[in-house]
Amino acid sequence: MKDKVYIFDTTLRDGEQVPGCQLSTLEKIKVAIELELLGVDVIEAGFPVSSPGDFNSVVEISKAVSQPIICALTRAVEGDINAAVESLKYAKNKRIHTGIGASDFHILHKFNSTREEILQRGVAAVKYAKKSVEDIEFYCEDAGRADNVYLAQMVEAVIAAGATVVNIPDTNGYCLPEQYGEKIKFLMENVKNIHKAIISVHCHNDLGLATANSLAGVRNGARQIECTINGIGERAGNTSLEEVVMAMKLHEKSLNLYTDVNPKKIYTISKMVSSLMRMPVQPNKAIVGKNAFAHSSGIHQDGVLKNKKNYEIIDPKDVGIQNNSIILTARSGRAALKHHLERLGFEITKEKLDDVYTEYLKVADVKKQVNDEDLYVLMGEKVENVGIRLESLQVLCGNPLHPMATVQLRIHGESHISVSDGNGPVDAAFKAIDKLVKKKVIVDEFLIQSITGGSSDSCKVNMEIAFQNKTFYGFSQSTDIVVASVRAYLDALNKAIV
Ligand code: KIV
Ligand code: ZN
Repeated sequence: MKDKVYIFDTTLRDGEQVPGCQLSTLEKIKVAIELELLGVDVIEAGFPVSSPGDFNSVVEISKAVSQPIICALTRAVEGDINAAVESLKYAKNKRIHTGIGASDFHILHKFNSTREEILQRGVAAVKYAKKSVEDIEFYCEDAGRADNVYLAQMVEAVIAAGATVVNIPDTNGYCLPEQYGEKIKFLMENVKNIHKAIISVHCHNDLGLATANSLAGVRNGARQIECTINGIGERAGNTSLEEVVMAMKLHEKSLNLYTDVNPKKIYTISKMVSSLMRMPVQPNKAIVGKNAFAHSSGIHQDGVLKNKKNYEIIDPKDVGIQNNSIILTARSGRAALKHHLERLGFEITKEKLDDVYTEYLKVADVKKQVNDEDLYVLMGEKVENVGIRLESLQVLCGNPLHPMATVQLRIHGESHISVSDGNGPVDAAFKAIDKLVKKKVIVDEFLIQSITGGSSDSCKVNMEIAFQNKTFYGFSQSTDIVVASVRAYLDALNKAIV
């Protein structure tokens, strides 16, 4: 019988700690809903005592999702635990994640304390939290560098106090896979009441070993992995959810383990997290990077076209990527060009292919990569015919000026211009757009946030609009808040009405 490995997602807590990646409550709810669809078992929704924003996010996420356990982080401090209990009041399934440092380094240099005192504080925190919430996870911070014998005492004591899950974080990404695996094995063999709790792995990626360490953990008895979408998180990040899930899926038989994650949802949530957090995914990132399934050399392209499995261990469709990207460059041959043209719906004869290929090479010579839009142009179909695009925007605002906006849009290939006033430049621009689009749309949420701070910073805009009783989201980023707002509005409109 295969054992289940629980997936504990901490994108909204450990992931969100990255400078510049802070999300609004609305954005966190979007991610949480997508995490529920993905099938994670636990969503760590925040650290409620840290700020009113974090507290509120845990409250709202608790209302928005029902299937996964909603988890709130605390230190081993009663005030933190009280805030977490309060923030989880609407959660159907709730967990408190409390803990304290376990390494001598943390005990001495962070707490200026002793092993005995720290152990007592940990136990007291579990007992206190247990009065309000049944499901208590305890983290032994910096367990990666902790002495295994002391760690085992701590794990045994917190389980005896009522912990249902014990987290063994490699907080500083210090361990090698063998060391981390050995640590978990030591606990499994030396903690008398270990069968009363689930052991969880929480690995940071400072040496690029987070995925390997997490897998070493589950191979030695851990049954929960803490991870984030795209591996985001403090410093070099956390274990990446997509990597551990797909590694376990591909090696399901030999590991004898499974998860309840639906891999087909991976790509969508990766894109969503990357765009909401303004955190690009590195092109060579495993599973979700732009190049993860791209084959650009002629030999590989030929091999993939003959049989994908020549160079692909995962079918991109299995992680929700619709078209594998055989990248078109000046080195690509006719077969690759034909493949893409057919994918875009063009039927092409051998003679026509020769003609198009000659033209294609001219484009490929001046561009690093030829994309779908270039191919449409090559085949004589204008891409601007699709949707609504902003061609130009001018606003007039100030005091005592009356705000005015002139907007030029390309709608299904035709250019239109409109002018409106409003109570501010954004309002004027939206009204000018409404005159052209002629649809009854309501802006329900409109959030402008700076990314890092300072007047020269870029801002990100999130928009929620209602059209015919449905909700659509728009997103944009620019150094100009009016341009970003208009683009986000058009992004949402394009989804709603085109
Ligand atoms: O890395 C870590 O130790 C943590 C704990 C707070 C769980 O994130
Ligand atoms: Zn962490």
